[in-house]
Amino acid sequence: MLSAEIEPRITEAFHAHGQGQVLRHLAELAPRQRQEFLAQLAEVDLALMAKLVAELKAQGHRGDAKVDPMTLAPAPYIALGSRTADARAHGESLLREGKVAAFTVAGGQGTRLGWKGPKGTYPATVVTGKPLFRVFAEQIAAAEKRYGCAIPWYIMTSPLNDADTHAFFRDNNWFGRNPSDTFLFPQGTMPSITFEGKLMLEHPSALAVNPDGHGGAIRALHHSGALQDMLARGIAHLSYFQVDNPLVRIVDPVFLGLHARSASSSGEMSSKMVAKRDAAEKVGVFCDVGGGKTGVVEYSDMPSQLTNAVDGQGALRFNAGSVAIHLISLSFLDRLTVGDFALPFHRAKKKVPYWCSTQGKTIDPVEPNAIKFEAFVFDALALASKSLVMETARIEEFAPIKNASGDDSPASSHQIQSNRNGAWLERLGVKVPRRPNGDVNARIEILAQTALEADDLADTDLPREIEAGAELVL
Ligand code: UD1
Repeated sequence: MLSAEIEPRITEAFHAHGQGQVLRHLAELAPRQRQEFLAQLAEVDLALMAKLVAELKAQGHRGDAKVDPMTLAPAPYIALGSRTADARAHGESLLREGKVAAFTVAGGQGTRLGWKGPKGTYPATVVTGKPLFRVFAEQIAAAEKRYGCAIPWYIMTSPLNDADTHAFFRDNNWFGRNPSDTFLFPQGTMPSITFEGKLMLEHPSALAVNPDGHGGAIRALHHSGALQDMLARGIAHLSYFQVDNPLVRIVDPVFLGLHARSASSSGEMSSKMVAKRDAAEKVGVFCDVGGGKTGVVEYSDMPSQLTNAVDGQGALRFNAGSVAIHLISLSFLDRLTVGDFALPFHRAKKKVPYWCSTQGKTIDPVEPNAIKFEAFVFDALALASKSLVMETARIEEFAPIKNASGDDSPASSHQIQSNRNGAWLERLGVKVPRRPNGDVNARIEILAQTALEADDLADTDLPREIEAGAELVL
């Protein structure tokens, strides 16, 4: 309940910042709605909004690139096939000591996929259609068993899907894991603004807001108490991944070992990359953004002459595609949350539902009508004193589900899952049917309980041959 003195302070502040238009229905609201609305207004950082509006006016709403793209160089990375045996042993010992936690960003709205619930509830696997959250939970549980440790799992939701996500975990009995080792928390929001820099109403008693981007994770980890929880458990490294990739290797001892070795020489955030499929692939690219710092430049911010640039052998110069998998040292995360630290906000023109007073209803615009602000977690890379990028094989751990059809769709993800699983079986001498284009011509699912990596299959009863078009779950 806001006290009577606070109300005028809130309304005066909005008028003083030229945002008094959002108060136009205040007098009409019932007491409870009025309280809730004022509580929402009290959360808005008006000074930050004023700064963002000033930047918008100075730069126009087309570009918000923080780096001059023409000064970019490709980022160095540890190429596939490099020697990593000692890194693996180091990573495994960190796991056994319980120093590693998992972190999923699952606050996105999944609009492109057209799925109504939280993205993590989407049926993702190629034969049994396991939802993404179950895929991750089973992988974490299998790693916990292997290394004899707890791997606490932190999941960032958004205010839009937090309740549904909680319900899904409860209904699935926390996927058989200890409920106290799963920590769900919502990210923050940012107000959307008109192209003229005005805050908007979605409803007479609600501002139009959007989740503040996966970069909001840094603040949300702190505010939710998740960071404190990790520190209390003695966690040293956080394995970060997106909710959309059923092939992600959440617990990768080699990556962990390389990162931790570099962390002890002040590396703070590490990343995985895959060679881009082609110039047009819509992934962020690891670049040297100046001063030897590594950053990710989104495909949409990359000038086409750089996207298409090739070297003497005809290979893409900027080929290090981000699969949005990182390891973040807790000491770095802790440092990032000191004071009022926040990652920079990126602007995007979007269709934002708004309240129309004359029609007395919320309108869904057909064209973009507003600017949304989002922070990106990979902007933390440039703040790290050192960071490392490791190449991984695309087929081994990148099969994202983002679109309803075409690239990065359920169909393409299923094919990659079968391709990976088929390749694992072939390594053990199983004859796997393939189409002329090289794709596996069967639907093959391998459960995390059976194998976390190809070598684990050595102890499994395997068929000698798989028939074309067969379905197989191992
Ligand atoms: C993202 C990356 C891109 C990378 C690609 C790999 C960005 C801006 N781009 O693209 O560099 O190559 O994945 O697959 O991230 N999320 C939240 N809260 C938010 C917004 C998003 O938790 O406010 C989560 C989503 O649930 C999802 C992830 O962040 O897990 C990525 O979100 P999305 O906006 O879909 O990024 P992509 O365009 O797929």
